[in-house]
Amino acid sequence: MAPTISNEILLAATKEFATPLYVYDEERIRYQYATLSRAFNKLDVNIFYACKALSNINVLRIFQQLGAGIDCVSLNEVQFALRAGFDPAKIIFTPNSVSIEDYVEARSLQVNINIDNLHILKQFGELYGNTYPVVVRINPHILAGGNIKISTGHIDSKFGISIDQAEQILDIVTETGVVVKGLHLHTGSEIKEVEVFLNGLNLILELSKKFKDLDIIDLGGGFKVPYKPNETGVNIQELGTTLSEKITAFEASQHKKIQVWFEPGKYLVSEAGYFLTKATILKENPTRSFVGVDSGFNHLIRPMFYDAYHIIQNISNPNGALKTYNVVGNICETDTFAWDRELNEVRPGDILCFKNAGAYGFEMSSRFNSRVRPAEVLVNKNGIQLIRRRETLEDLLEGQVL
Ligand code: LLP
Repeated sequence: MAPTISNEILLAATKEFATPLYVYDEERIRYQYATLSRAFNKLDVNIFYACKALSNINVLRIFQQLGAGIDCVSLNEVQFALRAGFDPAKIIFTPNSVSIEDYVEARSLQVNINIDNLHILKQFGELYGNTYPVVVRINPHILAGGNIKISTGHIDSKFGISIDQAEQILDIVTETGVVVKGLHLHTGSEIKEVEVFLNGLNLILELSKKFKDLDIIDLGGGFKVPYKPNETGVNIQELGTTLSEKITAFEASQHKKIQVWFEPGKYLVSEAGYFLTKATILKENPTRSFVGVDSGFNHLIRPMFYDAYHIIQNISNPNGALKTYNVVGNICETDTFAWDRELNEVRPGDILCFKNAGAYGFEMSSRFNSRVRPAEVLVNKNGIQLIRRRETLEDLLEGQVL
């Protein structure tokens, strides 16, 4: 059984640290990592945690201790990873739309570099020739993912170098001597179908035959986790078996060994996270009942930005009669967390818990309406620990010319 945090502990955390509050379950993070590693244990696999999902350095340290790698999309994320103790060889820098200076800096830090643009590949090759092998991100022209905003592998996406431009990559290799040690693809987030991963893998394996120095295939992240009640996520065991068979057969046919890299975010941390808010007001108008909470899209934007569904539970009144509410935030915009949601009767002061809030929750938070960002706590064998304090008015003013 996957570990979860009890309502008693969640309520205790809100008593100690107030709301709104993000709570993360270390045991669950470890469980997700172990499950994923086990599913691919027939392969030479490296899991790079996509830390854009949740970059608190205390969470990064858990992955570092587990022996994971880490996927970073900005130089600051690379700096976080280094401070968390990751070896540069365990860090991959996968930016997009950044200029060559960022790649030069990443090279000086000796991390793995993933290039997703022909011009940058050429500039990088001209600077470093064959001295710094790189991974190249391919756009496989596959449309997949929970919704269009989180689909990255389709033909109109800004990400990657089109698979139709493979010859141009090879020309740059010939001209500059740059060594392509790996090919990468990431088709999108919340992908459930094993077939989508298999199609991507087939394309990449076929293309990899053209690169003589290649021994890495990076299949990105995007494993679906269940958000709605009765929904299922990707079947990670089936995925592991299917991909492992394919890769093992490829290795045998090509007489070479392949390292397989993954970079999941959601799968590793989403279900380990809980977002706790307090009901501030109730309002009945002629058409709806509203429950307002002490948060808004400044703290959890997924419902508004992606129409994402998060289970919400009234953990202060779990046996209360079921009633239907619109759950709304306190931002001066229409920030609706949930429409027509059945909850156990909500009273002012009750704690509403949003499930599956570990990935892209705190990480996408902002200070909109001059509200501070919430605290983050980690629950583990040592109890409940504060890993980021709540911001203050002084934090909001800091840096402004007063
Ligand atoms: N690798 C690359 C190159 C990516 O662009 C991403 C996510 C990942 C790995 C990790 O994907 P994951 O395993 O977490 O699905 N904010 C959105 C998700 C956007 C993901 C962006 N890239 C959300 O909250 O649904």
